Amino acid sequence: MKNIAVFASGTGSNFIAIYEAIVNQYLEANIVLLVSDRPKSSVVKKAIKLHIPTFIFNPSDFSDKASYEIDILNILKERDVDLIVLAGYMRLIGNTLLNGYQRKIINIHPSLLPQYKGLDAIGQAMNDNAKMTGITVHYVDKGMDTGDIIAQESFVIEANESRETIEAKAHNIEHQLYPKVIKKILEDL
Ligand code: GRF
Repeated sequence: MKNIAVFASGTGSNFIAIYEAIVNQYLEANIVLLVSDRPKSSVVKKAIKLHIPTFIFNPSDFSDKASYEIDILNILKERDVDLIVLAGYMRLIGNTLLNGYQRKIINIHPSLLPQYKGLDAIGQAMNDNAKMTGITVHYVDKGMDTGDIIAQESFVIEANESRETIEAKAHNIEHQLYPKVIKKILEDL
């Protein structure tokens, strides 16, 4: 059985999708840790409710990225984490974790990368009047949304479609695609 750690800063709908994929025995894995840089986020509340162990930190309590990533790395190793899954984690990963988990950190992003990197990818697609966008799962490197692409799925944006429905489409795809990709990666580890 493989161990995964989910890193998240926000709502945690992908965290829940992964959790449910495990409960439903689609994914053979344990979420052994939820790492968050936002103590008050919904994802932290969800993890606590589900009795999933958390490592919650406030970046401003640390002098730099390396110092909090050393603490994170120690706990990941202590818990035998095989794969780091970023799910709305709003920080760049630094060398400490990249070196400790080479090609074992993945992220999901709501665009067809390399299009619309960075913040508010759906807003970027809307401003661009894009007729299509999608979801990308990729390996994490030191850039923002620049790592090697593992899987992508596209969807249509209708004329004058609301942000709400575009986001709902994006999330629906994410919640299927991420567990599927994680399953494949864990099988190959
Ligand atoms: C997702 O849209 C994901 O693509 C992006 O951050 C969002 C996280 O959503 N990286 P949630 O917190 O999992 O609901």
